[in-house]
Amino acid sequence: MNETILPFGDKREAPFYGKDILSVSQFRRPDLDYIFAVAREMQGMVTRVGTFDLLKGKILANVFYEPSTRTSSSFTAAMERLGGSVIPINEVRYSSVSKGESLPDTVRTLERYADVIVLRHPDVGASALAAEYASKPIINAGDGIGEHPTQALLDLFTISEELGVIDGLTVTMVGDLKYGRTVHSLARLLTLFDVRINLVSPKILQMPPEIVKELQTAHTPHGEYSDLDKVIPSTDVLYITRVQKERFNNVEEYEAVKDAYVVTSATLQSAKQRMIVMHPLPRINEISGEVDSDPRAAYFRQMEYGMYVRMALLAMVLGKA
Ligand code: NCD
Repeated sequence: MNETILPFGDKREAPFYGKDILSVSQFRRPDLDYIFAVAREMQGMVTRVGTFDLLKGKILANVFYEPSTRTSSSFTAAMERLGGSVIPINEVRYSSVSKGESLPDTVRTLERYADVIVLRHPDVGASALAAEYASKPIINAGDGIGEHPTQALLDLFTISEELGVIDGLTVTMVGDLKYGRTVHSLARLLTLFDVRINLVSPKILQMPPEIVKELQTAHTPHGEYSDLDKVIPSTDVLYITRVQKERFNNVEEYEAVKDAYVVTSATLQSAKQRMIVMHPLPRINEISGEVDSDPRAAYFRQMEYGMYVRMALLAMVLGKA
């Protein structure tokens, strides 16, 4: 593509060139404005030409130690739309990991072949550990119950594109706030904005105290609830999460809370006309199918915004935006 289309400058001035993306804590508001501006450019380019050669010759190692549909395939699509290519490692049981290779050795191997590594791993802090050993950028695609920073960026981009603003909104997070890494990252990122956050969950799945503390420190107004209906009328963004079955030690405990919240058309009857329903997906039962055709259901559009944000991030860490 014509390299003047995107806001390139000297690579050394590019704020994310060569950087890891490990946690949302590394971002400030101007960074978000910048990422979203590049994501919009990406959206425009995809609409106009589909695929272009910004990252031609660059290789992404896409390493998934946990299941994934969206994150893995949207990073692949993002890289391929930018003209780059992908080493997919999503069946680690067929890689040398199953022979007992350590994470540091796996990343030190892959960075010999690739220019950037996207990593999903069941352990909190795995991406940070990988980054200690790798000299190429590591992008955290979910580290256990820790963080999922690229998801939070795409979530915020979705809010901004769908509602036009972020400041002044009331964001209600529902479901598994304890184990859900997407809400951990999103809540942290929202502390940069003037928002109210409602945390709705069963008692045993409440937001971890350290994150609630971060909301307090940042003076982000928030409240913890178990009754969703109470907060629906004032909600601008209803962010629903799946109960993270794979994190439970005991099945009965999971069974007891798995259907604690099911959003139906009736739930949304008392909601604003101009609000959105989001979900990082996959959904199990927490949003009934009848909601899909409600114009407020943004969860399918949310996935597409994700590809543009991931295109922006790949271009940025590789010094091309
Ligand atoms: C989420 C994840 O993996 O944390 N999925 C995703 O990346 N879109 C949410 C989930 O699995 O529930």
